[in-house]
Amino acid sequence: MILDPGPKTRREELYGRGFELTTLIDVVIGQKIPITVIGGVRRVGKTSLILVAENELRSSDRFVIVYLDAGRITRRDQLGEEIARRLRVEPSSDPVEVLHRAKSLERHIVVVLDEVQEASRRTRYEIMDLVEAIAYKIYHSTLILPSSAPGLAKEVAGLEKDGKEMIQSHDVWLNPLRKDDAEALLIDGLRERGISPSPDVVEEAVEFFGAIPGWLVFFGLRLVAGLKPEQIYREAIDTALEEIRRLAPRPQLLLKVLAEGNDSWTKALKALEDLEGRWVSRNGFAKALHYLEKRALVKDYKILDPVYEKAARLLDPSEPLARLGLAPGKGSAARQELGASPSQ
Ligand SMILES: Nc1ncnc2c1ncn2[C@@H]1O[C@H](COP(=O)(O)OP(=O)(O)OP(=O)(O)O)[C@@H](O)[C@H]1O
Ligand SMILES: [Mg+2]
Repeated sequence: MILDPGPKTRREELYGRGFELTTLIDVVIGQKIPITVIGGVRRVGKTSLILVAENELRSSDRFVIVYLDAGRITRRDQLGEEIARRLRVEPSSDPVEVLHRAKSLERHIVVVLDEVQEASRRTRYEIMDLVEAIAYKIYHSTLILPSSAPGLAKEVAGLEKDGKEMIQSHDVWLNPLRKDDAEALLIDGLRERGISPSPDVVEEAVEFFGAIPGWLVFFGLRLVAGLKPEQIYREAIDTALEEIRRLAPRPQLLLKVLAEGNDSWTKALKALEDLEGRWVSRNGFAKALHYLEKRALVKDYKILDPVYEKAARLLDPSEPLARLGLAPGKGSAARQELGASPSQ
């Protein structure tokens, strides 16, 4: 089923991605690059890509892929146990010991920890241990970390600490689909459900959702349910707004400022100061920007997901301002008293 909210698992179900899949299998897995971080905005198809690769390699006698959704790893012992179970070797709570036991399989083990930043804090020690063992090629295994917050994933995995690289990784970025593949996904997905969409509806949706496949599936499913495109756009923006409201308050405000077109350090800092109604230190600004970049929300002062961009423009700043102890408009007076900000 094309319009399925879950990740795809078979090559025939994927629109586009031929190049990415070949690169993943031939370069990353085939050439045994120890650690690869696959970054990409939410819903872009990271999990689908890796699950299709897993499926393609299922019958290989050289590789075995162990896919784990890190958000489901909640107990300390679980990482080692799950890897052992998938490899059918004697279980151990120590994942490095499991890799040691898996040597007898005489296959190259590829461990995938999807969204590693979501793993429970309790399991961080085991994760870092596993990462280190793989990085130093102790057991000729490969680790792949797909993540919609690659900067955070790298911290959790111990690849980076305080902005410094601790362990080298090969970083790749998964872009949205090509426009023609995105259109084909929507047209075929709707036809499969008995709807023939007009070319205008398809083109407009692909544009609105920036050819991000997960959003197109979201759109298609709601069209099938009888909603009008305008209603679906509104629901998508509300969904993105909910996700934005889960961020820390200052990054929320910065996202709004960026959505309003302030596309440089100077412009964005000035606009953030206006919004907060007070002086903002360069350090405070850099921290908020870095927070958004680590979560793959922003790059080069641009919001990567167009739905987030539209949502951020509509964000009501009063709640994040209140969380910062500021009332909307209140700080403007304070700013006047202080005179021009030193950062200008
Ligand atoms: N290339 C593709 N062709 C068709 N459908 C796709 C493709 N990539 C992703 N999808 C669909 O888009 C949705 C999101 O895919 P997936 O879960 O793989 O993305 P993700 O990047 O892992 O998302 P998240 O950031 O939420 O983990 C799913 O409905 C999936 O079926
Ligand atoms: Mg995913």
